[in-house]
Amino acid sequence: MEKSSIPKHIGIIMDGNGRWAEMRGLPRVEGHKRGVERVSEMVEAATGIGIEALSLYAFSIENWKRPEDEISVIMGLLETTLSREFLNFMREGIRFRIIGNRDRLPRTVGAVIEQVEKGTAENKRLTLQCALSYGGRDEIIRAAKKIVQSGASADTVNEELFSSLMDTAGVPDPDLIIRTSGEQRISNFLLWQSAYSEFYFTDTLWPDFTKDELLEAVREYQKRSRRFGAVNLSQPKAFNSWGG
Ligand code: FPP
Repeated sequence: MEKSSIPKHIGIIMDGNGRWAEMRGLPRVEGHKRGVERVSEMVEAATGIGIEALSLYAFSIENWKRPEDEISVIMGLLETTLSREFLNFMREGIRFRIIGNRDRLPRTVGAVIEQVEKGTAENKRLTLQCALSYGGRDEIIRAAKKIVQSGASADTVNEELFSSLMDTAGVPDPDLIIRTSGEQRISNFLLWQSAYSEFYFTDTLWPDFTKDELLEAVREYQKRSRRFGAVNLSQPKAFNSWGG
């Protein structure tokens, strides 16, 4: 792997847990349990590669529409995983934080999150952002409300201000977004931050996604030509295109 162009920030839409379980005649929650094992593997791989931030889409704001028992298993998994991983985060220099709308989180989950966020706040090696009760549109609206409430004048509203009010403030925008399970859409994940992200879609279901495939996605990313809307002067003119 080319060390000079490692992405700073990778986002992952972890999809396909339910299908993985259903294909094996297991309850959907078994897919989520297996999915948590992959989370631990990805965090370990991310620290190994040397990326600055990893954002994992664990529970969207739309996921509250799921059956109550499935929601409570996911919340329970989060609570136990976070309690269990806290010491590991400290040992490995991982700063943990939640992005999303915290209002609806169960009290016990909120308490563990607060404890792990506070405890790991000064860690510097990797920022692990868990998108929980998260929606990109909801995040943008919350930022807009803060601007209105602050009484800011129109000419002070710019991209920097919005970025600083996002849940992801202080973390660079994702260079690479991976989605598993064959779906090719963004599903309200990091809408503001993904303006110039590269996308990697794979048919692999999340419970089968390995460290090797993460490395494959990074290698694929390294082959892309990122122009951010400008032209790449090292390429022949015929290859330059309009968009980003
Ligand atoms: C998507 O699969 C997965 C989820 C909605 C939940 C993912 C949550 C975890 C793996 C737990 C995360 C834990 C930590 C510690 C970050 P799906 O159920 O939508 O699958 P389907 O599309 O096949 O139905």
